[in-house]
Amino acid sequence: MTKLDSVGYGVATGKIILMGEHAVVYGEPAIALPFPAVRINAKVEKIAQSIVELDCYFYQGPLTEAPQQLTNLITAIKESLAVLQQPQQGFKLSITSTVPAERGMGSSAAVAVATIRALFSYFKQPLADSVLLELTNQAEKIAHGNPSGLDAAMTSGSVPLYYVKNQPFAPISLNLKAYLIVADTGITGQTKKAVADVAALLESHPQEIGDKIVTLGNLVKQSKHAIEKNNPVLLGGYMNQAQQILVDLTVSSPEIDLLVAAANQAGALGAKLTGGGRGGCLVALATTKSAAEQIEAALIEAGATITWIYQIGEK
Ligand code: PMV
Repeated sequence: MTKLDSVGYGVATGKIILMGEHAVVYGEPAIALPFPAVRINAKVEKIAQSIVELDCYFYQGPLTEAPQQLTNLITAIKESLAVLQQPQQGFKLSITSTVPAERGMGSSAAVAVATIRALFSYFKQPLADSVLLELTNQAEKIAHGNPSGLDAAMTSGSVPLYYVKNQPFAPISLNLKAYLIVADTGITGQTKKAVADVAALLESHPQEIGDKIVTLGNLVKQSKHAIEKNNPVLLGGYMNQAQQILVDLTVSSPEIDLLVAAANQAGALGAKLTGGGRGGCLVALATTKSAAEQIEAALIEAGATITWIYQIGEK
């Protein structure tokens, strides 16, 4: 039997969806990138009692008494232990995070990825990418209801993807000379509810909403071309069009609309929500660092709680 006197560690980054959220659930493409500015660290260590103990921002205590809110994490732990064939307990899982929770940055998937990695590291077992993805998707089904798989793919991987549900991963090179300004509204997003509401809208208005989803998909395809041609102005225009459709799909919010307007007024080439919406984060695009800083200042002035400037493409 393996002697478990060591500690297991796991890391995962957040992600940004540049284009295609919500439509990706229906088989349209999305463009997303890992966002290493925010990350989750998980640590597994042996304890004397034969229980699983959790220590995270939301809860400290035995896994058996963890709140409903953490069911995706509980699933990630239980399913990993089943695959590892390690029913015995007696460890503590500690999680620290700089990924803002429920803000469209894939925090639930990232927590699962870091946890699964830490457990496999603790039990000294190799972890194949396919197993990591499968386990993360199981946890995401609990968190999101009907996930596209994009969050699991992005938080377990390290390269930007042109992602289509149930298709092999297609890395995309973001050879675009531009800056993304990412801003948090400070309002908790509601991905599960937003995804369910879009599904209900599609059922009640199949033609109209179906057309909007296809249009979003087409904007993603055009964005891919704009990126390949290093044309941020075109991409910004597509981002604005996508935001309007996301508003129509009812997944934006007054706080996002306000920050999108502030970014555009401050000279952004385009701005839109990122992730599930109804709060959470938005992304704006600029070609120069000074323009990005000006937009960032305007976003803070308009109420953004945290901002990041991220240089896309060549450094
Ligand atoms: O809010 P997040 O970070 O979980 O992103 C959700 C993205 C959606 O397209 C709305 C849902 C999905 O499963 O792809």
